[in-house]
Amino acid sequence: MLPSSLLFSLAYNIATILAYSPTGDYAPGKVSCPSDASFVREANALSSQESEWLDKRHTQTQPALKEFLTRAGISDFNIEDFFDDASSNITIGLAFSGGGYRAMLNGAGQLSALDSNTRNANELGLGGLYQSSTYLAGLSGGNWLTGSLALNNWTGIEDLVYHDEGDGVWDLSHSIFDEGGWNIFKTLGRFSAISKELSAKKSAGYKTSITDIWGRLLSYQFFGSNNEASSGLTFSTIKDTEIFQSGYVPFPISVADGRVPGTFIINLNSTVFEFNPFELGSWDSSFKAFTDLQYIGTPVNNGEPTSDYCIQGYDNAGFVLGTSSSLFNQFMLQLNTTGITGLLYDIIEDFLAGLSDADDDIAVYNYNPFYNTTFGSSETALKSDDLYLCDGGEDLQNIPITPLLQPEREVDVIFAFDNSADTDDHLPDGASLVATYERQFAGIANDNAFPYVPDTNTFISKGLASRPTFFGCYSSNLTELSRTPPLVVYIPNTPYSTWSNTSTFQMQYSNDEKYTIVQNGFEVSSRYNLTIDSDWQKCVSCAIIQRELENTKQEQPAECQQCFDKYCWDGSLDTSGETYSYSLNATSGL
Ligand SMILES: *[C@@H]1O[C@H](CO)[C@@H](O)[C@H](O)[C@H]1NC(C)=O
Ligand SMILES: *[C@@H]1O[C@H](CO)[C@@H](O)[C@H](O)[C@H]1NC(C)=O
Ligand SMILES: *[C@@H]1O[C@H](CO)[C@@H](O)[C@H](O)[C@H]1NC(C)=O
Ligand SMILES: *[C@@H]1O[C@H](CO)[C@@H](O)[C@H](O)[C@H]1NC(C)=O
Ligand SMILES: *[C@@H]1O[C@H](CO)[C@@H](O)[C@H](O)[C@H]1NC(C)=O
Ligand SMILES: *[C@@H]1O[C@H](CO)[C@@H](O)[C@H](O)[C@H]1NC(C)=O
Ligand SMILES: *[C@@H]1O[C@H](CO)[C@@H](O)[C@H](O)[C@H]1NC(C)=O
Ligand SMILES: *[C@@H]1O[C@H](CO)[C@@H](O)[C@H](O)[C@H]1NC(C)=O
Ligand SMILES: *[C@@H]1O[C@H](CO)[C@@H](O)[C@H](O)[C@H]1NC(C)=O
Repeated sequence: MLPSSLLFSLAYNIATILAYSPTGDYAPGKVSCPSDASFVREANALSSQESEWLDKRHTQTQPALKEFLTRAGISDFNIEDFFDDASSNITIGLAFSGGGYRAMLNGAGQLSALDSNTRNANELGLGGLYQSSTYLAGLSGGNWLTGSLALNNWTGIEDLVYHDEGDGVWDLSHSIFDEGGWNIFKTLGRFSAISKELSAKKSAGYKTSITDIWGRLLSYQFFGSNNEASSGLTFSTIKDTEIFQSGYVPFPISVADGRVPGTFIINLNSTVFEFNPFELGSWDSSFKAFTDLQYIGTPVNNGEPTSDYCIQGYDNAGFVLGTSSSLFNQFMLQLNTTGITGLLYDIIEDFLAGLSDADDDIAVYNYNPFYNTTFGSSETALKSDDLYLCDGGEDLQNIPITPLLQPEREVDVIFAFDNSADTDDHLPDGASLVATYERQFAGIANDNAFPYVPDTNTFISKGLASRPTFFGCYSSNLTELSRTPPLVVYIPNTPYSTWSNTSTFQMQYSNDEKYTIVQNGFEVSSRYNLTIDSDWQKCVSCAIIQRELENTKQEQPAECQQCFDKYCWDGSLDTSGETYSYSLNATSGL
């Protein structure tokens, strides 16, 4: 294994010759417009870039999946015939929930068990599932994980986690607000650098919000502290890297919500936005538009530039990650209670965009890239000078599933990793799935369908929140929904070898704590290293092939029926109020 410092410095080198901000720095800069520039489109199909990219990705995922299924070894199931007769490419989506560093670390462990490059993942876990997956969605803390991967040249997860050489990626031994630790000059220097960067963005004519500061801090943490944290690195840079273009890695999606100042959103009336390597926008019928991500910040009317120049560098990578996790802005404002110097307050004072306290979490994107477009019905969003986005979890859908439900994406199975803190003990209770289930009936989603799920009391009482469960197993029972939804494999955070249910706002982790939580994540994905169920790889395989078997009217293999009896929610409810009591290193009762 290469020393991680070397990997990261290589990543910087390639990044500087790619789509950095034209200023080379945090401030966006002017470029000439492409001819006939028209940046928005109606969200009624995949972008042509995504379709072309899928052609490449499919040629990687299908052989990887073949290998995965072969290792799982379902009896009476002919893998060659299955692929030869397939009606479509099997499309797998992975979704990682929010929940601060808890979600990031647990998510890292959960994902590492899916990565055939992780030690023991093939033998003890679900190694190869990551290689077989097409989409990788992240929200808030989960997006710190997926963003760290995508913007560090998809370095191995182990390299992100076991980097303990000091001030590099995923060094959580100091709070993000106090990276210098005992070295107060380092901390002050950082804030003064951030202050200069924000001034430059303002001088270029842009509004700034607290999310700009938050995004800069995240960049220092995730994109290295050299070179002012790659201050010019953009999210759309991902599309220019060879590793992505060749289809060698999944399609990363970062989720945020629309929230106009002074309004409050829930799952039934939110507009869900996605950032992907090509575009920013929403599939929701209220919005229904996408824009070319690399040109946001350009003043436009209905997608056409109103200036004789265009803008690049606005989609700063840290700003995008900060937008998806903007709830942490609130925490930043309570800094004085954590005993940090008052300098940050001065900076915040300087840069506040005049939003009220209740809107501290809002990221301001100006100019509004969707100004005067006519595809959706959302007047405020389309007629406003600015686009307002916030933390993707604010509409209670803390697992970024929406992008994977879009019919255009033809996803067969979603792996929903839930590291939410729904209970007082910072453990999940299925609330995010309930929110997504309800939302399909609200008339705002783009013909999204989602399987039936029970109420959160049932999740707890039946233990569905403390072990993996499959939802929507048989499409024969889903005919009353608007279409057949993907099958959902729900994998909730469960403490096995350590208390992985740390507080969302714990900002500091020792290396030991970091490693043990990541290990616990591995154990969550692998059913405690297959000790709870040695058939787990087989059962996951059954979930993956189910929709294709149904589409082509093939019989389900007998072993898969047994798996489904074990893992599918049977539709029953339990409101007894019983709770599951966790104890470490326990393999019984789960
Ligand atoms: C990025 O990763 C790919 C595949 O692992 C590798 O071939 C390439 O050299 C890496 N690029 C950089 C700049 O490290
Ligand atoms: C899988 O995707 C490839 C590339 O897009 C395509 O050529 C092939 O026809 C697809 N296979 C099926 C079974 O649809
Ligand atoms: C499970 O496997 C992982 C990966 O090899 C290992 O780090 C961890 O210690 C194992 N857990 C247990 C309880 O053996
Ligand atoms: C969304 O619904 C909630 C609850 O009904 C309501 O309080 C809120 O004002 C609505 N927000 C918007 C933007 O319509
Ligand atoms: C922290 O700052 C907030 C806002 O300025 C103020 O209301 C609060 O009293 C301060 N808390 C402490 C402990 O100083
Ligand atoms: C919106 O665009 C139309 C043309 O597409 C134009 O006639 C109209 O003036 C624009 N409205 C505003 C407020 O700019
Ligand atoms: C983690 O869960 C255990 C068991 O439910 C609980 O006792 C503990 O307080 C929780 N930890 C946190 C930080 O909530
Ligand atoms: C089957 O469909 C009914 C609605 O027709 C629903 O209430 C029930 O929860 C579904 N069962 C499962 C297991 O999804
Ligand atoms: C659980 O097992 C780990 C080894 O995997 C051990 O270090 C730890 O002390 C055990 N914890 C308890 C509470 O038994």
